[in-house]
Parts: sequence; structure tokens; C-alpha cells
Amino acid sequence: MKRVTIFGTGYVGLVTGTCLAEVGNQVTCVDIDQAKIDGLNQGRIPIYEPGLEDMVHANVRANRLHFTTDAAKALSAAEIIFIAVGTPPDEDGSADLRHVLAVAGTIGRCLDHDAVVVNKSTVPVGTADKVRHRIQTELAARAVQPRVDVVSNPEFLKEGDAVKDCMRPDRIVIGTDSPQAIDTLKTLYGPFNRNHERLVVMDVRSAELTKYAANAMLATKISFMNEIANIAERVGADIEAVRQGIGSDPRIGYSFIYPGAGYGGSCFPKDVQALERTARQFGYEARILDAVEAVNRDQKHRVLAMLEQHFDDLKGRTVALWGLAFKPNTDDMREAPSRVVIEGLWARGAKVQAFDPEASHEAGRVFGERADLTLCSDAFAALNGADALIVITEWKQFWAADLAAIKAALKTPVVIDGRNIFDPKKAEAAGLAYYGIGRGRSVATPSFVES
Ligand code: UDX
Repeated sequence: MKRVTIFGTGYVGLVTGTCLAEVGNQVTCVDIDQAKIDGLNQGRIPIYEPGLEDMVHANVRANRLHFTTDAAKALSAAEIIFIAVGTPPDEDGSADLRHVLAVAGTIGRCLDHDAVVVNKSTVPVGTADKVRHRIQTELAARAVQPRVDVVSNPEFLKEGDAVKDCMRPDRIVIGTDSPQAIDTLKTLYGPFNRNHERLVVMDVRSAELTKYAANAMLATKISFMNEIANIAERVGADIEAVRQGIGSDPRIGYSFIYPGAGYGGSCFPKDVQALERTARQFGYEARILDAVEAVNRDQKHRVLAMLEQHFDDLKGRTVALWGLAFKPNTDDMREAPSRVVIEGLWARGAKVQAFDPEASHEAGRVFGERADLTLCSDAFAALNGADALIVITEWKQFWAADLAAIKAALKTPVVIDGRNIFDPKKAEAAGLAYYGIGRGRSVATPSFVES
């Protein structure tokens, strides 16, 4: 059993803290947001994440998981201190380290015993050095000299699968040159490190870069597929067939090659931009990352272009939207393609009727009350009187939707399938004008036979 203190009760902090408590550690989560901490102490979980709520409640009841705003108290007995606070992009796209360094300052002002400080926030290469420096400066001012190792231990949690990813990680990256810190973290992560060695130990800077490289590679796969989808549309090929054709090559693999309305979320857009920015700071122009970002920006407008192609003018139209969250199984709308689509529809004078199984509340918070936005309580209510349906998030419940019922509910039977969840032939057989991503419908199929 270790005594663990975690700064930040966002996705990463809350999930990590809860999972560490679940395997028997004494965990205290600290946040500066009093309302959030009060909510957590009353059993309210600020995010929707499958499995998390029950696990938080069980560990609070077992007296292993605690929430507080009192950093000094939380640090008084901590052996391992996690920094899991946000690193939002600042205006130029680089990661804003204000919160991370503020936590480092707090640690330096309060700590009076040896500890391992583990940075889990996604931070540019070199941040661990800055954190170490900030802590040491504060300690020196107090003339105390505990041994503090600063380790980089990037997080690879996926929203919607976060608890599972934390309990059964495919790798645990540890960046440090301190044998003591490696030992401490080996013990801490022991329960998650079963069957085969998942710990990958390296120097701090490599660990910091690993996180960006992983997210940038995944984002690259998606933008690459979106680009191929755009080519498929023009040459009259079906990207879904192409996807299966290339995914069967184990060197390519089936995952993260789904074309769609673009990637969103709190990580990919921010991390690709931050890595580009870091590269530039060090005198390197990251051309691939630049293109990944540009393709994604355009892709978020793709479904709008399809709709405009069908109707010419969207003024006065009502458009149904299925999905608001940036992906299924979350209520998170950060950088969600739905936001670009909704803003685009409004800019063209259309009204939106949207449904999302989890993100309606978040949409209300993001957009506020508006006459041109109706947040519906079920999927078919959103279709009532609408001129078209756009599928923007591939929630499971949409996959099996009755196509004939969609046709019956819509005023004009147009479906823009931004996630390729429907079979184009079945959709057309049901009488729908169907547009998918990279499925050869939005551009007239060219003839390759010379006349
Ligand atoms: C991502 C990484 O997967 C995770 O390892 C990291 O720690 C944080 O960033 P997350 O942002 O939760 O996780 O979402 P993810 O499931 O990776 O999806 C990101 C976006 O890519 C979503 O908008 C999704 O719709 C899109 N996507 C994903 C595609 O468009 N096509 C795909 O094939 C896969």
C-alpha cells in the first residue's frame, strides 16, 4: 500500500486516483475547484465515464479515496505525488504549463519528506526539468532538502474506456534515471503489470515525447484515411472496402483507420498542434503534422459541403443531428466535429434539432438557449420535420436504426452519414438519398472509358 496524492480531478487524475485506490492504495485527490471537490465528496462525478461512478463510491466507502482542496494536508504524508492538471493550448498552440508549474510550486512549498513526483499531464519535452527546477527553488527557499525525483509517466487513457485502460494498460511508460523512483513505481503499478512486462523505462525526455508521438501517429492514421476517402469519392471507389483491404495487412492494422467527420477531443487536436510548435521552437518544420492538422480542419466541414451540394441553399432548412460528443461513450464536446457543423449550419441560416445520448447537457452549456437549436430527448424526435439527418457521432444505438422509419420521419429523405454507420445500398433501397464519407456518392462517378 502506498500513500498517493493526485493533483487534478479531471479525466486523468480522477480515473488514475480511483484505480490506484481500487488496488488498495490510500489516495487523496486535490483540486483548486471547491465546487468540484464538494460535489465529489457528496458522490457527484463531474464526468461521464463508464464504470467510474461505482468505483469512486466503493473506494470512498472503503476509506481509500479522499477529495480535498487542502494541498498542504494532502502532501503531508504523500509518498508518490501525481501531477494530472490540464495543459490547455495557449494562443499559439503550445501547451500552457501554468497549472503544472503552479502545482510544482505548491509541492516545493509544502513538502518536508522524500517523495516521487510523477507527471501525468501531457507536457512538452523539457517540462520535467522545469518542474524539478520549480520544486527545488521553493525547497531551497525553505532550507529543507528532501529527495524529490521527478518522473514522466504519460497517460494513454481513452475517454469511454478510461477505467479499463487504467486497470489493464498495454504499456506503462516511465521516464526517469532514478533507480529508486523506478522501484517505487514498479511496486505501485504491480497490480496493473500482470502476465507480461508492461513497464517501458526510458529517460525523461523520451517519455515526454512518447506521449506526443503516440497521439500524433494515431491522428495521422485518421487524417490519412480521410484523405484517401476524399480521393475515393472522386474516383468512385468505396473507402469502406479500401479500409478492409488495407487493414488486413498486420503492418497497417484495422484500428484508427476509420474515415469520418474528423477527429476531436481533448488530446489529438491539442497535441498535434503542440508538437508542431515544439518542433518549430527547435528549428524543425513538421510538415506531416501540419498536413494532419489541415486535413482534419477541412474534414470537419465535409458533411456540410455534402448537404450544400444536395440542397444548394440551406437557409430556412431544419437539420437533424445524431451525436454531439466528439466520440461515443462520452459527454465530452471539446473540439467535437459537431460544433463546427452546428456553427456552419447556423451561419447558413439553418436550424438544428440534435440528439445525443449523453452530451445534451454539455451542449446546453456550450451553446446556451437558442431558438435555432433544439436538444431532443430521443433520436427520432430530432428527425421530426427535418430536411436531412447528419450522423456525426457513431453511438451504438444509431447503427441499427430502422432506415424506413428514418425515411418516414424526415421531411426530405436525405441522410449524410459522417461516420459510415449505414449500408449505402440498404439506405438507398429504403428510399433515402444517402451520402457517406468516401463512398462515391457526393461526386458524380467518373467514367474511365474513353468515348
Ligand atoms: C486519445 C488517445 O487514443 C489516448 O491514447 C490518449 O491518451 C488521449 O487521446 P481520446 O481523445 O479519448 O483518446 O479518443 P480516441 O478514441 O482516440 O478518439 C479521438 C478522435 O478520433 C475521436 O474524435 C474519434 O471519433 C476519432 N477517430 C478515431 C476517427 O475519426 N477514426 C478512427 O479510426 C479513430
